[in-house]
Amino acid sequence: MDSKDDVNLNSTEVQAESKVKDKEVSALVDVETPDEMEEDNRKRHLNVVSIGHVDAGKSTIGGQILLLSGQVDDRTIQKYEKEAKEKSRESWYMAYIMDTNEEERIKGITVEVGRAHFETETTRFTILDAPGHKSYVPNMISGASQADIGILVIAARKGEFETGYERGGQTREHVQLAKTLGVSKLLVVVNKMDDPTVNWSKERYDEIEAKMIPFLRSSGYNVKKDVQFLPISGLLGANMKTRVEKSVCPWWNGPCLFEALDAIEVPPRDPKGPFRMPIIDKFKDMGTVVMGRAESGTVTEGDSLLVMPNKTRVKVVAVYCDENKVRRAGPGENLRVRLSGIDDEDILAGFVMSSVAKPIASVTEFVAQLQILELLDNAIFTAGYKAVLHIHSVVEECEIVELLKQIDPKTKKPMKKKVLFVKNGAVIVCRVQVNNLICIEKFTDFPQLGRFTLRTEGKTVAVGKVIDLSSGSTF
Ligand code: GTP
Ligand code: MG
Repeated sequence: MDSKDDVNLNSTEVQAESKVKDKEVSALVDVETPDEMEEDNRKRHLNVVSIGHVDAGKSTIGGQILLLSGQVDDRTIQKYEKEAKEKSRESWYMAYIMDTNEEERIKGITVEVGRAHFETETTRFTILDAPGHKSYVPNMISGASQADIGILVIAARKGEFETGYERGGQTREHVQLAKTLGVSKLLVVVNKMDDPTVNWSKERYDEIEAKMIPFLRSSGYNVKKDVQFLPISGLLGANMKTRVEKSVCPWWNGPCLFEALDAIEVPPRDPKGPFRMPIIDKFKDMGTVVMGRAESGTVTEGDSLLVMPNKTRVKVVAVYCDENKVRRAGPGENLRVRLSGIDDEDILAGFVMSSVAKPIASVTEFVAQLQILELLDNAIFTAGYKAVLHIHSVVEECEIVELLKQIDPKTKKPMKKKVLFVKNGAVIVCRVQVNNLICIEKFTDFPQLGRFTLRTEGKTVAVGKVIDLSSGSTF
């Protein structure tokens, strides 16, 4: 009864591909909102995306994190318990903290990325709770493209790990996407350890770890440096804020989830770099407000910036970091920026706020290195191939106009022979064209703005990096 893959969601599939959705779980978050924060003395901020197969327990873990960090009171939980029972989804009450839409609660699945905030000793976190269902992969991509680190949730319950891991399951697809989208570190949480089929079994935990390691490695993660496994129960909150009791799990000597999150290291970003903030959404509120994440550089009240690709000159009227008004904000922060000099109707998701001195390039064509994952029905990949390009917050139709070189997977060097078509698994260099100007960067300059995915008919077919902007650049 737990598998909902067969729920009919086709009608929403097309919509999901074109409109990425996000929801703020702010009604529950009891933050103090001082007028001005001491922005320079704040703890570091990280976005953490929870990913993994449908029903693995991502929303339950997100809800439990908020409960354990004191942001949801008992009355609210009791209300959710009652509501979940009425919908015959008793065990889903914890997920209701993150799944706030009626549709999500009735079906018991996440559709829109849920957003919530919590803090540990060293870090302010924004949790992005991604949907696991395959119809909503575009929303997952949007969540992952904003994240520094990922919590990959795997259900240890008998049969569930297997379904998620097999071909067509979202465990593999999410890992590959997360890596391409710049999620540099993964905490792999083996969840549902309390389930009667698992009962905190070390054998089951070891089996999952042993199967996941080679796959994570082949997806590009350095398993020793960038990946950490731990067992938890999201539903019971075990091994999350405090270490699991020895009477429950005698063999675990590692950290709990909060400790692991606290200790995770990510490369620092350059606050002095040219300002770049891809726009995820916009709205009208005493002027035009844009939402997004600063990927590079610092923004200060009063700054002049360009909204690219239209080169509209704007002035920064106010900066909000999470819910707080700040004078200045650095890279890595999720921001709302109030602007003057532009109408909200002249902004689209995918536009980039950019420094005037060093604006981001806008192109209709670029050269990319592409790894073909899985083509539909083993199709052939050749010039003329069309797909949907997802790069930071851009979603655009694109066409492969020329295959330039094939890369030898062994030597990682270009092969000599001319390449006209390739199949699954190939790595190629090719020229990609879009109809409208898009703002992107070379992967080597700004990794977050230079990696992308290609999708067709609801499936990820390839992942890539931008290697050259020479063709079509307006700067
Ligand atoms: P999608 O958002 O639809 O991909 O699902 P999800 O990964 O967010 O899963 P969700 O949190 O909605 O949980 C799915 C089901 O698994 C619910 O019935 C949860 O109660 C159950 N579940 C989640 N975590 C645990 C756990 O630690 N133990 C047990 N026994 N059940 C759990
Ligand atoms: Mg969910």
